[in-house]
Amino acid sequence: MRAKARAHSNIALIKYWGKRDERLNLPAVGSISLTLSALWTETEIEFSPQFQTDQLILNDKTASPEETGRTSRFLDVLRKLAGINHKAVIQSHNNFPTAAGLASSASGFAALTLAAARALHLSLSRKELSVLARQGSGSAARSIPGGFVEMHAGQSADGSDAFAEPIAPPAHWDIRLLIGITSGAAKKIGSTAGMNLSKTTSPYYQAWIDAQHADLTAMRQAILDRDFERLGELSEYSCLKMHALALSSNPGILYWNGVTVEAMHAVRDLRRRGTPAYFTIDAGPQIKVLCLPEDENEVREMLESIPGIREVVSNKPGPDARILEADE
Ligand code: DP6
Repeated sequence: MRAKARAHSNIALIKYWGKRDERLNLPAVGSISLTLSALWTETEIEFSPQFQTDQLILNDKTASPEETGRTSRFLDVLRKLAGINHKAVIQSHNNFPTAAGLASSASGFAALTLAAARALHLSLSRKELSVLARQGSGSAARSIPGGFVEMHAGQSADGSDAFAEPIAPPAHWDIRLLIGITSGAAKKIGSTAGMNLSKTTSPYYQAWIDAQHADLTAMRQAILDRDFERLGELSEYSCLKMHALALSSNPGILYWNGVTVEAMHAVRDLRRRGTPAYFTIDAGPQIKVLCLPEDENEVREMLESIPGIREVVSNKPGPDARILEADE
């Protein structure tokens, strides 16, 4: 019972921040993302009655007990569905540095969901796979489809309507997302803990929830219309609102370093000089810049000229998660 899958990472254009149910990992808001062409995880899993415990190997190293525990609890959901109790050996590789805070949980849990479902001979729809991936990590639900993707917050108590589906495939629109790596350090406070703190302490939490519907509607339309300025403006706006929520938590959460802030100003300077470029930032210090293909070189040069940017990774809209190998 063995299978191998690849899933690409994704970056939210309209951010997910906050949960309506922690146990089932149900998001309090919908979100919209772009699947990334250049960053992916490949995961191979084998279930066997001979294995005594689950074993997780991440980038050729035995994972920590915490990481293995989170993966085991996630696999229990799939084992229960399949009615199979075998333990598993999981080997997972990212083609990018895990510690750099580049959303490895999104591509990681999406690849694991696909590989484990196949190895357990579960025949599931893309929607069901996304519902399952969400239980590993909210953003992982969005790495099942490729291209431009919408995650629904859903309303049901069991989370069966909290899943991601495509708005448009990768070929719909060639836009670029450049990632400027400003630090290799792991993030200080993870998304899950950050979201919980915002929910329980930020005076702006409810206002964030209330405004999300309008942002989602506007972004969906910008994607369908291929309106780049609209997409960029909405992305930057949603990013800054999410960070305002983090900052207004108690104690305040600050994900940026000095280089992140320098880069935000540099993107806006470029825009003032006439190049449509817009930034977005997640729960870490890396800067992500959205632009059109004809402006990619200019944006890359701008990022590379900022002291403290170590590396720039270019992305196009990336493909669906898929099975690479499987036993019949
Ligand atoms: C800032 O999906 O990592 O990247 O569901 O707790 O695993 P959990 O959180 P996660 O959060 C992502 C937060 C974000 C914004 C986004 O991707 O929408």
